[in-house]
Amino acid sequence: MTNEVDVKKLILQALGARTRAYAPYSNYLVGAALLSKQGRVYPGCNIENGSYGVTVCAERVAFFRAVQEGERDFQAIAIVGGKREGAIDSFAFPCGVCRQVMTEFCKDDFQIIVAKSLEDYEIHTLGELMPHGFGGEQLE
Ligand code: THU
Repeated sequence: MTNEVDVKKLILQALGARTRAYAPYSNYLVGAALLSKQGRVYPGCNIENGSYGVTVCAERVAFFRAVQEGERDFQAIAIVGGKREGAIDSFAFPCGVCRQVMTEFCKDDFQIIVAKSLEDYEIHTLGELMPHGFGGEQLE
């Protein structure tokens, strides 16, 4: 079931997820809200680790939660990120590793909403942000 994406609602959920960010090392807090085609929302926040490389981004936390719940079809993700102190003053685009995870589960029309606030956001597609991605088809 593919519905019209309620962009502001998804951003609000990403902002809510961001309050759970565990980022004592970077103090850069990220929240994500992943919308499945069934209409369920899976929140995620970044979870850092004293062994820095073990850190997991908010987007991947959201995806892995969803996949564990049995979801495989997704329509959009909203992402908000910024320093602990002060307003969110830039768009938090997903890192390359998260784009690769999106490529595993999403088509080119998957919507990536980066937001500073409910009013200030941009909508991109996975095809735009991850062109010519490795989707694993070659392994079949
Ligand atoms: N981070 C995310 O959560 N998502 C991204 O796409 C980029 C970076 C997190 C990881 C780390 O906790 C902090 O932001 C600084 O890199």
